Amino acid sequence: MNKDLIAIAIDGPAGAGKSTVAKEIAKKLNLEYIDTGAMYRAYTLKVLENGLDPKNENEVLRLLDNTEITFLDNHIYLDGVIVDDKIRESIVNQNVSYVSSYPEVRKKMVELQQKMASKNNVIMDGRDIGTVVLPNASHKFYITAKPEERGKRRYKEFVDKGDTEIKLEDIVEEIKKRDEIDSTREESPLRIPDDAIVIDSTNLTVDEVVDLIIELIKGEN
Ligand code: DC
Repeated sequence: MNKDLIAIAIDGPAGAGKSTVAKEIAKKLNLEYIDTGAMYRAYTLKVLENGLDPKNENEVLRLLDNTEITFLDNHIYLDGVIVDDKIRESIVNQNVSYVSSYPEVRKKMVELQQKMASKNNVIMDGRDIGTVVLPNASHKFYITAKPEERGKRRYKEFVDKGDTEIKLEDIVEEIKKRDEIDSTREESPLRIPDDAIVIDSTNLTVDEVVDLIIELIKGEN
């Protein structure tokens, strides 16, 4: 890692508000925001669109070498096509934990992420940023919230987009299942980095979390 560059690592479980918070901090501190979950989602989308089984590791790895995932102007591109909305669909939510559990998939994404952090001042969010991707990050945070609250936030996002079919209980269940897979997988499981500051956002607004993190960053300098 380039010591002259700023690297802020934000880890935590699904629906904790990491990406909303990280985007806002990126704007305020003029950093590049890198959503690493979106990268695993984009590859999951590719696996699904090609009719491959996300639970079959050999099938999943088949397309890895021929896949290009890039960020440009706050959009994510899969093989040159913007997939911002498609990667948020339920079918991707249900399968991304399987695809992201395979070591070869993680190796490719981590290399891409480290390359991005070697060129720009970044704020990166995910599950293994402070532990694996940027172990020497200048600042590390772990944002969490109770599963029921995280489920409510995801539910609101779907409802705001006009999805009336979705049920809150199903989302909370899916979040708990993802927590379980993400934190018990063998390869880079979700865990709190030793040197991270933990923020429980259950009873905090986005602005409160953003202000708190910026204060902590400034205080640490
Ligand atoms: O943050 P998210 O919900 O968009 O992440 C989608 C999935 O990707 C999540 O279930 C776990 C996986 N992930 C990961 O394994 N490592 C990361 N750095 C980011 C996400």
